[in-house]
Amino acid sequence: MAFPEAWLNELMSKNDIASVIAEYVQLTPKGGRLWGHCPFHVDKTPSFSVSPDKQLFHCFSCKAGGSVIQFVMQAENLSYIDAVRQLAQRAGMDMPNEIDDKRLLDQKRKRERIYEANREAALFYHNALLSPMGEEARKYLERRGVNASTAKRFGLGFSPEGYDVLFEYLTGKGFSREILIEAGLAVPGRKDPSKSFDFFRGRLMFPVISAAGKVIAFGGRTMGNDEPKYINTGDTPVYNKRENIYAVNLLKGKKLDDIIMVEGYMDVISLHQAGIDNAVASLGTALTIQQARLLKRYAPKVFYAYDGDEAGQKAMIRGIDILRTSEIEPRVIVIPGGMDPDEYIRANGPDSFLSLKDASITGIRFKLERIARIHGTDTPDGREKFAREACSLLASLDPVERDRYIPFVAEKSGVSSDTVKEQCGIAVKSPANEQSSVKYNYKRPRTESEAVKNEQKLLGCMMSSREAGVEIGKNRDFSLSLFTVDPLRAFAARLLAAYRTGGKPDISLMIAELEPEDAEVVSGAFAVSEDIPSPAAYASDLMKNMALSSLKDKLTELSKRAKENISPEEKAEILKEYAAKYAEYRTRSGSDR
Ligand code: UTP
Ligand code: MN
Repeated sequence: MAFPEAWLNELMSKNDIASVIAEYVQLTPKGGRLWGHCPFHVDKTPSFSVSPDKQLFHCFSCKAGGSVIQFVMQAENLSYIDAVRQLAQRAGMDMPNEIDDKRLLDQKRKRERIYEANREAALFYHNALLSPMGEEARKYLERRGVNASTAKRFGLGFSPEGYDVLFEYLTGKGFSREILIEAGLAVPGRKDPSKSFDFFRGRLMFPVISAAGKVIAFGGRTMGNDEPKYINTGDTPVYNKRENIYAVNLLKGKKLDDIIMVEGYMDVISLHQAGIDNAVASLGTALTIQQARLLKRYAPKVFYAYDGDEAGQKAMIRGIDILRTSEIEPRVIVIPGGMDPDEYIRANGPDSFLSLKDASITGIRFKLERIARIHGTDTPDGREKFAREACSLLASLDPVERDRYIPFVAEKSGVSSDTVKEQCGIAVKSPANEQSSVKYNYKRPRTESEAVKNEQKLLGCMMSSREAGVEIGKNRDFSLSLFTVDPLRAFAARLLAAYRTGGKPDISLMIAELEPEDAEVVSGAFAVSEDIPSPAAYASDLMKNMALSSLKDKLTELSKRAKENISPEEKAEILKEYAAKYAEYRTRSGSDR
């Protein structure tokens, strides 16, 4: 971001990371690092480390990490700029000169302008809904049981057909094309990029409003059967779907016992209309740490009421871990008959929904039942598998909480309670059970996939020294496309560029300038970089393995596609590709015999 490098450098050196963090966490030195309990989650063993040499922190458990700036951002819940300001104050430094202030100011103005455009757009859509051209949309809402006052409360609207109705209206009000494009309201024409099109056309509109009451994004639903059913504003300077929650604006000022988390816009709206006004939605993504933090401001408990399909189940499993990490109590409302909350409440009414809520189960119980379902407990083999995996999950709980679930696991598996306890003891000692079908990430809520780990290791090798980095860059197996994780790839590219120009890049400083999420994955790479004795050789092996496993994935995918119901021509094409990839695979894996 927009600070002069020399100034930022001074800021960092005047705010030694160890002394800043020591104001929050008690740190003990061990093996060249300082260790303590991570302030960002419940951390029983000290898994939070600070490296004074690198001026970085890293939690081996929750994977939080970065520079002193990201630490302050997370510890104090501040924006990047405010964290920098706080550190500048701490060091007795003035904020940078006017030129850079001006850049920040310009950014701020732009954001303000985008908020204004969004607000005008929301009003425009809402008025369109109430006007003659909104008739079809009003009928659609009526069919779905949404009444006029609910439509008003949620600011629902209609985006007119025609390709630039909103664009014309807003440019007429003085908004620039650039702002409308940055807001995600307009898009340049694909054939003729000088043309501008409305992003939302002929859809029922749902404004997304921030906790501060600003319109930050929109969702638009088709009223027909065409795909996609919903389109949504992408990331913009004022909106990131990973950090926001639909209907959080309606929680404001309420003191709540709990929040109901649903999947969709319509679920939220139906629940509110039925008088259940503590419902929010995570906007079609799995819950993130940032969203959990936002929820925590309003209530200590979250009831999940997602769809019963596989995607919904998986999202809940992940969300339960995130909630627990954020010290929010997760519960699950099980909705019968494959209905979503909107359908259920329309069919059975709010009281019936509230009795489902009364019958909700804990997050852990939900996970245990899922493990039982996956293995099936009507055969001895299934019961045994269930018992093992359930015990691994229980082993990650603290003993008091664990005790609650022992009778359930014993009963389901037909194993005695003592055996369950004993097995939990064994599992505590060897918790790494990578093959399990349900991830119980209580201790490690953000376990990276194998691929991410490999990519972090590769970047770690490149970071370990200039020589190693240059050598890896020259290796014929190396390509930036080995990185599937964007921030890792971007960082690798910057690093190589810096090495090429002969500079000695300051990696901590490079990390300090990243967004917190990116800083986190990248500093994960930095954390492994010191433990690799010969990085170039290690990277060479690593890249061979990465290439092999991506080839293997490709082969699996091709063979799956070949079995699908496709034309003979397509099939021949696929089999040809398969043969070529297979030959490559054999050559690379050295198994030509
Ligand atoms: P669902 O497919 O469950 O739809 O998606 P829904 O909420 O029940 O919608 P209705 O009742 O048919 O109108 C759940 C949520 O996932 C996001 C939306 O936020 C939606 O509300 N989603 C879904 C999309 O963003 N795009 C899509 O194409 C589908
Ligand atoms: Mn629905």
